[in-house]
Amino acid sequence: MYRTTPPVIHLKDYRPPEFLIDRAALHFDLGLEETAVHAELDLRRNPAAKRGDGDLYLDGEHLELLEVALDDRTLPPAEYEIREDALVVHRVPDRFRLRTRVLIRPADNTALEGLYVSGDMLCTQCEAEGFRRITYFIDRPDVMTRFSVALAADAERFPVLLANGNPVGEETLEDGRKVARWDDPFPKPSYLFAVVAGDLAAVSDRFTTLSGREVPLNIYVEPENTDKCDHAMRSLKAAMRWDEERYGREYDLDVFNIVAVSHFNMGAMENKGLNVFNAKYILARPDTATDMDFAGIEGVVAHEYFHNWTGNRITCRDWFQLSLKEGFTVYRDQEFSADQSSRGVKRIEDVRMLRARQFPEDAGPMAHPVRPDSYIEINNFYTATVYEKGAEVVRMQANLLGPERFRKGTDLYFERFDGQAVTTEDFVRCMEEAGDIDLSQFRRWYAQAGTPVLECADSFDAHTGAYTLEIRQHTPTTPGQSTKLPLQIPFAVGLLDAAGADLPVQLDGETEAPAPGTRMLALREAVERFTFVGLDAEPVPSLLRGFSAPVIVRYPYTDAQLTFLMAHDSDGFNRWDAAQSLSVRLLLELVAESDKPVPEAYIEAVGRALKQDDADADQALLAEVLTLPSESYLGDQMTVVDVDGIHRAREQLAAAIGEQLRDALLGVLERNQEPVEYDLSPAAMGRRALRNAALGYLMRAPTPDIVERCRAQFEAGHNMTDVIAALRCLVDADPEHVGDAGEQALTAFYQRWAEDPLVLDKWFGLQAQSSRPDTLERVEGLLEHPKFTLTNPNRVRALIGAFAVGNPLRFHAVDGAGYRFLADRILELDPLNPQIASRLLYPMTRWRRYDEIRQALIRAQLERILEVEGLSNDVYEVVSKSLGQEQD
Ligand code: TRP
Ligand code: ZN
Repeated sequence: MYRTTPPVIHLKDYRPPEFLIDRAALHFDLGLEETAVHAELDLRRNPAAKRGDGDLYLDGEHLELLEVALDDRTLPPAEYEIREDALVVHRVPDRFRLRTRVLIRPADNTALEGLYVSGDMLCTQCEAEGFRRITYFIDRPDVMTRFSVALAADAERFPVLLANGNPVGEETLEDGRKVARWDDPFPKPSYLFAVVAGDLAAVSDRFTTLSGREVPLNIYVEPENTDKCDHAMRSLKAAMRWDEERYGREYDLDVFNIVAVSHFNMGAMENKGLNVFNAKYILARPDTATDMDFAGIEGVVAHEYFHNWTGNRITCRDWFQLSLKEGFTVYRDQEFSADQSSRGVKRIEDVRMLRARQFPEDAGPMAHPVRPDSYIEINNFYTATVYEKGAEVVRMQANLLGPERFRKGTDLYFERFDGQAVTTEDFVRCMEEAGDIDLSQFRRWYAQAGTPVLECADSFDAHTGAYTLEIRQHTPTTPGQSTKLPLQIPFAVGLLDAAGADLPVQLDGETEAPAPGTRMLALREAVERFTFVGLDAEPVPSLLRGFSAPVIVRYPYTDAQLTFLMAHDSDGFNRWDAAQSLSVRLLLELVAESDKPVPEAYIEAVGRALKQDDADADQALLAEVLTLPSESYLGDQMTVVDVDGIHRAREQLAAAIGEQLRDALLGVLERNQEPVEYDLSPAAMGRRALRNAALGYLMRAPTPDIVERCRAQFEAGHNMTDVIAALRCLVDADPEHVGDAGEQALTAFYQRWAEDPLVLDKWFGLQAQSSRPDTLERVEGLLEHPKFTLTNPNRVRALIGAFAVGNPLRFHAVDGAGYRFLADRILELDPLNPQIASRLLYPMTRWRRYDEIRQALIRAQLERILEVEGLSNDVYEVVSKSLGQEQD
């Protein structure tokens, strides 16, 4: 079939904008069905740009142009041209004022980009290229403008009128309409623009900045949700303080506003002075939100707040630089969260997520560098690579420089580039200058895609006491990048003696032994050899401590060595990682050999870990150690994913733990009972995590008393963490063991929470993730549920996303029904919301990882999608790249 393929945008084609917009005064006449936008733009030719054809090009999509005037003269149609995606004004002067009037239709906007309706409110989402759906503009991040905004709306329906910056006046007109004026003194790119209008209630507080300015803080929510904002507010204040202490960054406007909306494509958005959030990342009460939800809120509130400096004050020159703000800001929010609770557990969670999402992305058809070279649709590049790998790349620089020099580097960055739109190169140069180090090879981390693999081998010379470690690095080829160069890799190593204590890691040639502990090695060559001396016996190496670089390490550990590291490694991360490796290895053996019994040594190791649950144990860390690798992660470790084998093996192992360690697990339940008083401290969360991990194992081999405990925990309804954990066990359990307890619990949960959308999402999600054989039928039934809708992204993710990503066993059913189901939903969604449709494609991009039958089935669905006319650029890009088609 013939199709005109959408254009590919290349980094190498970057040119500075021909015109700049110094000032924009916008007036909105707000209405749900129809909104009029009047824009007054002060433009001038950019002295730093080459002269073009003399015409002015303004981006604009889905706009109805009513009028355009240049320096107060209304232009006749001959002097401009309206295109599908632009307004071209012919032969403009070097400096002028342009006025446009356009109409937009928020109620028809299902893409949730630009101005749209959520519930009864109006709100905007402009990143990356949504502002062009609001008015004609040069919609690119290197055009930084001072915005002032007037919002006019019906005072009763929209009593709250918000925009970026500082409020500078409000009046009520005679016709019952209200006008609110906002002025943002900081020049900003259009993607940070925001307005909100609605009947909202504010939860308010204040924050006194380092220099003593008092800043009102407001969280705006629908009135029924004012009792769910405490945690978000607490997180915000903690983040504001932390940014002052750790980075010397103060807040800079007279007010900071947050709005929670229920229809939102992503997590949240850092619009200057007016952060807009997916309600999921604001609203929480102990009875409605799990500990994971609370942690997510803390992290996302901080993330968006931190963008005020890393993203807003200093922004991106172009969208290829997205990781400049996202990688750095994720690194900042990770460090903030680490400081709020357990640093070790936070690192484990972050690495778990990197391995689950970024490593597969790096190994698939959408692989791209942290700074991509090209894209078709920028919305497809808000990825784990740009965010999470980008954060690792900043973390490595922080580690290479050490805390003092890293702080010098960030100070220099803030000072040098405040108010500018810059590049990742500018960031690295600051680190280089302030750190006085050479990062020329390190820069390859931004340009080279793929996860480096480190093959490690060692030898010990008993005569000389020398231990040699050889490390070969290679990065697999990725689409469009067939040759890979060696990277500079910080590689943290420890050496353990037979008793499990750290040895001094002394390099050959050094006259003095360092103190025992971790040594940071710098890898630069494809093959590196390090010889360590002064050893009495062969040590056990502890490699990549703290996960010092985003790489895969291969070393031929024996089971005994892994068990040893799991028990003794002074590095908490590597203790956890050794446990994971041991479990992965065993599980892969169980997959290969279905009648292999679970080895006693493994059960004993888990039993020993359980014994660590004493008064001063870190229960959260223990819970991490006890969590088996996910089915998807296990699949990632296989040459060909064995969907059914993995599920069977994992259930077999869990049941063996549940049966054989029953008493120890019951002990964990006893010791970690929930106190009457709810507590959100890290210790209390750790106890819940550990207890629910134990309950999960026990429910794999359920006796009536355990089922009863589980049901009691559900019914007690003490907090959502415990309720969901118990409900999940009941829903997943075989009815042979639990009767209709699962169904009953689901019904009770629905009745209790039908009117709370965020809790109801959990109800949809749990059913979609169930391993029960009838899950797909059930999910199809739920599409018809009165509470299901394709127009709310959270609901779509809860049902369809949870099934496709969170339920490999049923999604990858060999009859192909799961694939057909997903393709059907994507095709329904694409005309409504291409961003969400495109994100749902993810599990199908991985088709090459499966057996031939499944490969053919998935491919057939991808090809079917590609045949459809009028596909969005978003979906087109992911599908065509997944099928291995070249773009240029
Ligand atoms: N910049 C936002 C963040 O990282 C994320 C974002 C990008 C976004 N595009 C979006 C959010 C579209 C919502 C919709 O915090
Ligand atoms: Zn961000």
